[in-house]
Amino acid sequence: MISIYKAKDYKELSRKAANIISAQIIMKPSCVLGLATGTSPIGIYNQLTEWYEKGDLDFSEVSTVNLDEYIGLDAANPQSYRYFMNTNLFDRVNIDIHNTNVPNGMAEDLEGECDSYDNLIHVLGGIDLQLLGLGHNGHIGFNEPGESFEKGTHIVDLSPSTIDANSRLFESKEDVPRRAITMGIRTIMQAGIVLLVASGKDKAYIVRDAFWGKISPEVPASVLQLHKNLIVVADEDALSKSPVTDNYTVLR
Ligand code: F6R
Repeated sequence: MISIYKAKDYKELSRKAANIISAQIIMKPSCVLGLATGTSPIGIYNQLTEWYEKGDLDFSEVSTVNLDEYIGLDAANPQSYRYFMNTNLFDRVNIDIHNTNVPNGMAEDLEGECDSYDNLIHVLGGIDLQLLGLGHNGHIGFNEPGESFEKGTHIVDLSPSTIDANSRLFESKEDVPRRAITMGIRTIMQAGIVLLVASGKDKAYIVRDAFWGKISPEVPASVLQLHKNLIVVADEDALSKSPVTDNYTVLR
C-alpha cells in the first residue's frame, strides 16, 4: 500500500512523521528504526525529543541503523552523520548508544564494513521502519541514479549533483567527501515500513517523478512504488507538481 499524507508545511510534516515513528515505538518497544540524516528529518527528531521529554516516548529498547556515512569522516567530525545523529537525536533521548548504528566511514576494510553492516541488520531481525529523505536527483540513502536495485550495503561515489547539494553544509565544495557507505536499495526494500519525507518546492518535480513516474534506476526512489507499505509525508510545496488533492491519499 502507498499512502500519501499532505502536510500544510514543514512543521506539520515533522509532527505527522514523528507520530508514525512513535506509533511504531509504542507498538513494538524493541523495534529497529532505520534512520536518515539531512535537513528533512531534523524537525522529526526535535518532535520525538519533545515527546520523550514529556514522558510520552521511551527509547530504552529501541535499536537504530542509519542509512549512510561519508568515507573518511570520524564520529568527532561535525560533518559526519554519526555526529549529526548523536547531536540531533541520540544524545537527547534515553536510547542506549550501543544500540545505535551508523556505518563506519573510517573502517580500514571498507568492503568488510559493508558486509558486517548487512549482517548486523540481519541479526537485529531486519528494519521495522525505515525513514528516508529524497535527493533532488531521486537518490535514497546515497543510492544515486543508475544504481542496481539489487545491492546491499556498499561503497558509492557521490554524484556531482549530490556533492553540490551537500556542499551547503561544508565550508567549501572541495571539503565534501567524494565517497560514502550506503545501505543498498535491496536493504531498504526489506524494511517492514518505509516512511519517506519531502519538503519544499525544490522537491516538487522529483516527488512527482518518484511516485507517479515510471519505475527506473534513473530515479532510485521510484522503486519504492513496489514496496508493500510505503508512507510518504510531504508538504504542500513538495506535492505542488503531483496529482494529489486530499490530505490523505491511498495510491494503491
Ligand atoms: C541522508 C540521506 C540522503 C538524504 C537526501 C535528502 O542520510 O541518506 O539520501 O535523505 O539527500 O536530503 P535533505 O533532507 O537534506 O534534503
